[in-house]
Amino acid sequence: MSNLLKIKYNSGDWQKHTTDAIAVGIYKDLKLSRQLQGVNRKLGRGLSNALSGNIIEGKVGEVKIVVGKKGSIAIVYGLGEKNKIDSEILRQAGGAISKTCIKNKIETFSFLIPIDIKDNYMHQAAIEGLVLGSYQYTELKTTEINHFKTKSATIYGISKNIVNKANKVAQGVCFARDLDNRPGNIATPSHLAANAIEIGKKSNIKVTIFERDKFTKMGMGALAGVASGTDVPPKFIIMEYMGGAKKQRPKILVGKGLTFDSGGISIKPSSKMDEMKYDMCGSGVVLGVMKIIETLKPKINIIGIIPSTENMSGDKAYRPGDVLTAYNGKTIEVLNTDAEGRLILADALAYASKHYNPEYILDFATLTGAVVVALGHVATGIMGTDKKLISKIKASAVTTNEKVWEFPLWGEYLDQVKSNIADVKNVGAPMQAGTIAGGAFLKSFVKDDIPWCHFDIAGTAWGDKGLSYQNKGTATGEVIRLVVDLLGI
Ligand code: BES
Ligand code: ZN
Ligand code: ZN
Repeated sequence: MSNLLKIKYNSGDWQKHTTDAIAVGIYKDLKLSRQLQGVNRKLGRGLSNALSGNIIEGKVGEVKIVVGKKGSIAIVYGLGEKNKIDSEILRQAGGAISKTCIKNKIETFSFLIPIDIKDNYMHQAAIEGLVLGSYQYTELKTTEINHFKTKSATIYGISKNIVNKANKVAQGVCFARDLDNRPGNIATPSHLAANAIEIGKKSNIKVTIFERDKFTKMGMGALAGVASGTDVPPKFIIMEYMGGAKKQRPKILVGKGLTFDSGGISIKPSSKMDEMKYDMCGSGVVLGVMKIIETLKPKINIIGIIPSTENMSGDKAYRPGDVLTAYNGKTIEVLNTDAEGRLILADALAYASKHYNPEYILDFATLTGAVVVALGHVATGIMGTDKKLISKIKASAVTTNEKVWEFPLWGEYLDQVKSNIADVKNVGAPMQAGTIAGGAFLKSFVKDDIPWCHFDIAGTAWGDKGLSYQNKGTATGEVIRLVVDLLGI
């Protein structure tokens, strides 16, 4: 993992800092608050000189380096208008500061959050931004290693608990990004299982793995069908964390762990097929949240379930036309082997419905190309059965700025996944409502009385949204922060 790991908290006077630079915020009014006056003094009027030279504008997203006397450095970040400040502006500022430090090879810095900002969540967002913005995926480079790493950030002026929580949440997101970014020959189902076991060892999360023989005998015919085309061992991973009261119903998180999606016999075009290494980002969400649970130990009951395999072609692979029987006994006509994510999720959702009495089930999957067409990389497509759950999810999306957009699951769409020869088919109507068809299919595998929501993260799990705390063309770890907020961690 390459990201800022040391976030220090200091309750003392920032003026005594010994770090290489000090990061300080300025509003658009460019008024020198007491904090800024202090920084100005330290810089030998460097700040007021920069202001009079119109070098700093105080606008959102702006980050400028001001060098003062004896080489002292301030990283001045713009906050925009005072009455418009929000948590996302601070998260973006944190990300931009980290990127500026990396670019300018600043090893250690202090981070001052304006004293007029008192909101805990805004504080949390700023620290999340620092860590997330420092993330770089470097582990596979053996030559041309020029990835400068900032050693530590020292935070002044906010509570120790918030610093700690924000850091752990962001470290969990970075952990998931590493898993997501790893190619299919490294991040195999066994790799995901090993990571689940590792998280379990460090905490009281019970981890159970079903191997191919076991889950096939148990009746998970959909996962077994998808996995039939590969010799790379598939896994069905269960993580149980019971940190809450025994009678508290668990919340279940299910993640698509498709470690490489070639499309199978319905093979994908070769251009951009490499991107299908990201087809396990749903499992990244589950493992990321579990990693955060391991470190923060909240008093809740959470179950994580990851069906994991590759989707390959070959003489042993499942075929278009095959009919598979899922764990809940429903039969599925396979009309396209590239619509495999919904198949492996079907068994996981049916397993979750049968063996637990959950408060709700959420599933996360890079399920459809159609969601990228509909929403781009900006928002995750969601759909589900329970209005209250959906509105809570929407509220967490607003809080965390991990945007979601709801699609309908009307009866007409449910009809589109009915099969002529089996209970359901794994595609909807041709060239229409592809994302909804995915959700409509999944609905058949969740018990009707269990509130459930499906997250199609195909557009948001990687790609470029131009945020300072994400990196172009790599995994984002999106919706982990949303889920953490929803779970009340
Ligand atoms: N993993 C893909 C979805 C995907 C596509 C994710 C592009 C990210 C970017 C999924 O398994 C898939 O191939 N879905 C098909 C479904 C279709 C055959 C009904 C799709 O979206 O084309
Ligand atoms: Zn596919
Ligand atoms: Zn897929």
